[in-house]
Amino acid sequence: MCGIVGYVGPRQATSILVDGLRRMEYRGYDSAGIAVINGTGVKIRKAAGKLSALVDKLKTETPDGTIGVGHTRWATHGAPTTPNAHPHLDQTGRIAVIHNGIIENAGTIRKALQMRGHNFKSETDTEVLAHLIGEYDTDNLEEAVASALWDVEGAYGIAVICSEEPGTVVAARNGSPLLIGVGDGEYFVASDASAILEHTRSVVYLDDGEMAVLKRDGYRVRNLTETHVEKPVNQIEWDLATIERGGYDHFMLKEIFEQPESLHNTLRGHLLEDEGTARLRGLNLSDDELKRFDRIIITACGTSWHAALIGEYMIEEMARVPVEVEYASEFRYRNPVLDDRCLVIAISQSGETADTLAAVREAKRRGARAVGLVNVVGSTIAREVDGGLYLRAGAEIGVASTKAFNSQVGALAMVSLRLARLKNLSVLQGRDFIRALNRLPDQIKQILDRAPEIERLATKYHKAGNCLYLGRGVNFPVALEGALKLKEISYIHAEGYPAAEMKHGPIALIDENMPVVFIAPKDAVYSKIVSNVEEVKARKGRVIALVTEGDVEIAKLAEDTFTLPQTHDLLTPILASVPLQLFSYYVAVLRGCNVDQPRNLAKSVTVE
Ligand code: G6P
Repeated sequence: MCGIVGYVGPRQATSILVDGLRRMEYRGYDSAGIAVINGTGVKIRKAAGKLSALVDKLKTETPDGTIGVGHTRWATHGAPTTPNAHPHLDQTGRIAVIHNGIIENAGTIRKALQMRGHNFKSETDTEVLAHLIGEYDTDNLEEAVASALWDVEGAYGIAVICSEEPGTVVAARNGSPLLIGVGDGEYFVASDASAILEHTRSVVYLDDGEMAVLKRDGYRVRNLTETHVEKPVNQIEWDLATIERGGYDHFMLKEIFEQPESLHNTLRGHLLEDEGTARLRGLNLSDDELKRFDRIIITACGTSWHAALIGEYMIEEMARVPVEVEYASEFRYRNPVLDDRCLVIAISQSGETADTLAAVREAKRRGARAVGLVNVVGSTIAREVDGGLYLRAGAEIGVASTKAFNSQVGALAMVSLRLARLKNLSVLQGRDFIRALNRLPDQIKQILDRAPEIERLATKYHKAGNCLYLGRGVNFPVALEGALKLKEISYIHAEGYPAAEMKHGPIALIDENMPVVFIAPKDAVYSKIVSNVEEVKARKGRVIALVTEGDVEIAKLAEDTFTLPQTHDLLTPILASVPLQLFSYYVAVLRGCNVDQPRNLAKSVTVE
């Protein structure tokens, strides 16, 4: 989703801003722009479409200046055109604003400003904010921004510069992530650490309601009432290599291949084999507290929601605690029944998804304990929950989530194990589960070594117009995730269904052109899924089956099979999801799709 980068220091700003925007391309956007100040006012360059369109414009007219702001926009208010691209200027053309989020009362403010003679050049809420700041500006940008923000409702991360204060960037955050990069005699603002990582690893995360004032000789954090707020400087641990492709054609492929290591990192240090349990200190919950919960709600969006569904099967099966899985966007506006015996688990790769964050806040407001399974260290959800686990999967850049998904499932497996051992799981069963978990990284590696088999399947099926994914039990969510991966990046219409539910509708779609992917490991519901495969075969559907090594029954029925190593029934989703990720990747490549930045999608959805 939208990206913000700003710079003040001794160096030329344009190339720093463009490089920063390039690093944030993965978030998804549809136009880009920069504003730079030099002795002759604010210079704005912007272009609809990919960053390369802006870079082309800059080749002929690069603005000079050592202070500036840059933005990639993901359209919300107004089409993705050049006039709607950020930065936006105020009425006088002195103040430039870039903005992530949505100003909800922009319509009302726009009307009031129009009555006072303001003319707008775009359809955006951001231009309204720029004009409002301009109205307040007498001779102090910082105060003008603070005054304007009192009038504004909604979510924002903003960065503002003014030609009359050519040494100051003012930034503010409310509901949309923003951080300050502290360099040596230079300062940055960014919505995503990857934008500034090549310049500094020291960052200050802004919280909602906070502003920052960056000058060449230092920075200060404040809020709307106090002019100074003390904030810690954090060190980012990951380095540039983790956000570069490292020889792979796409980030998605790199991240799929990183899974042996990323899953190992998720599990590392948590599993106590002797005791047959998991140590999860980050949850900040004692054994007594964990035992007291009589209900668990897991809330998330997108791929993380699919991981949550797998968690539901795991926790109910192992720990016998009732679990509900809620789309965060629904949870936040329902009237959920919550009390202090209910544990809410929020799952988010980015830790910034607006709906998931709002669900966490709602859960806490209603007195529930909220914990997070989050990948991005220092993200807003990670900072607001009562406790949680970091996934430690490393930076995930590809918009289609892969390694984070399996780390989420791994983390949920550990939560299930901990809860189960406090209830009725024996130490021996706990040890078996741990051994199975520990084998997974090697087993994923074995699957990845056979990627060419999946590539051949992709070559065979990549022209399909539709695709059905079917699974049962804990592998039903894997079917949902397999279908989501395919539609996200190859734009093939795909549906995931519980295999037996197929006969209540989707069976009508099956003919000799329909590939049907079965997730059919040798588990407790194996014989049931064999019958479902027969039903599809009887209608001439083209069955592709993921089966356990040694399977002969389904292999006889299916047109194509891919074998999975043997594991604990509840852990099959981690292995089964890997060939499905590879399948959608190769299909998308064969169809010429932009794998890492699929159309209309954003990596981190920071608006509702
Ligand atoms: C976006 C991404 C998905 C992701 C979802 C939730 O839609 O494109 O890949 O699953 O957001 O993101 P989160 O960061 O909260 O896991």
